[in-house]
Amino acid sequence: MKIKSSDILKGSKHLWLPYTQMQNHLPQLEVESAKGSEIFLSDKTKLLDGIASWWSVAHGYNHPHLIEAIVKQANNLAHIMLAGFAVETTYRLAHRLCSFSNMDHVFFSDSGSTAIEVAMKIAWQFHINNQEKNKTKFISFKNSYHGDTTGAMSLADLENSMHQKFSNILIKNFCLNLPKNQDDLNFFEDFLNKNHQQIAGLFIEPMIQCAGGMIIQDQEILSEIFAICRKQKILIIADECATGFYRTKKKFAYEFAKNSPDILCLGKALTGGMMTLSATLTTAEIYQSFLGDNLNLALMHGPTFMGNPLACSVANASLDLFMQEDYTQKVAEIEKILQVELLPIKNFKKVADVKILGAIGVIYIALEWLEILKLRKEFIKKGIFLRPFGNVIYLMPALNIEHQQLKTIIDKIKEVLVENNYN
Ligand SMILES: Cc1ncc(COP(=O)(O)O)c(C=O)c1O
Repeated sequence: MKIKSSDILKGSKHLWLPYTQMQNHLPQLEVESAKGSEIFLSDKTKLLDGIASWWSVAHGYNHPHLIEAIVKQANNLAHIMLAGFAVETTYRLAHRLCSFSNMDHVFFSDSGSTAIEVAMKIAWQFHINNQEKNKTKFISFKNSYHGDTTGAMSLADLENSMHQKFSNILIKNFCLNLPKNQDDLNFFEDFLNKNHQQIAGLFIEPMIQCAGGMIIQDQEILSEIFAICRKQKILIIADECATGFYRTKKKFAYEFAKNSPDILCLGKALTGGMMTLSATLTTAEIYQSFLGDNLNLALMHGPTFMGNPLACSVANASLDLFMQEDYTQKVAEIEKILQVELLPIKNFKKVADVKILGAIGVIYIALEWLEILKLRKEFIKKGIFLRPFGNVIYLMPALNIEHQQLKTIIDKIKEVLVENNYN
């Protein structure tokens, strides 16, 4: 059944939107369908999508291979609980995903945020099971974003972020500056030296902090951070909800560190952005610490829809595409276009910088909130969909966006910036 405008009107009185002041917000775009990198609105306008539904729709909207997998699975069995029942697609995803990511074990949950919650619980219990009960605090970095659930919020910068207001409610962790040079690295190492007895692990978005401001890291420094943690025996938890699955050109961004994490969190593109599913993957060492003839050692966690067959079947189909096609090459081509077409915006007088990492292009520009809203509207008028925030206008398109579509999006960004005298 097609959604009618009147239903949207009725629903608008009831529906609470993400990150929105509901008293006064831009109208939602009434969407009819989407295909590849094109979004078709019910007023017959077409938008080119530059951000792939918060970076999840890696293979574009409604990829036939993914649709086929969902339909086939839905006709067979949409859901049955994982406690007690083995459905082939869930088990198939478990072994394929572990081999694809070079990890040993996987715990499925519902969203990026819940993958983080699971990672926290696993890290805490790993230490409890190893008789290190004081290792309870996590290190995270300023400007990181790990989600909106309680544990994930407690990893945010609680002195200066949208979750600041909850600082007296949330779990106390250590939120440090992300090291930028050797002095910072020395400080970081010193901090670990002094506090390692109470540290449960380090959460890091490798190579780029996304929702916290699209801040790109230096590869050498990332390697050092991993090396220091290894030396100090601090668990490394890589949050690759945003960076996983070739977004940075590498299969996973932790590869830039020439080291691997102890725990890896995946979401978003795991299902090619088709359904909500996340994975918390661990090494064998972590998993083995939960084994024994005592239930108390086990991980007492089990979301109702854990390992949902529909979501796992589409994740398997998404993995087929990642394995059959050369995504390193696809992303390298996107990166090249961004370098040629987007980088020159660096010379606009009100633009602070432009940086590119794989299929991510970021324009750093000081913007007031009202300017952001104005730009969002003007991009839509030009037929492109982008969501600038904070001090960035960024591009994170589907990894199979057509090259001409990407060039058109960049041309339109330039037009809007010129028309608003940012050049
Ligand atoms: C790095 C990172 N971690 C976690 C999350 C939270 O994921 P979700 O919105 O699926 O809960 C996000 C979402 O943007 C993210 O970018």
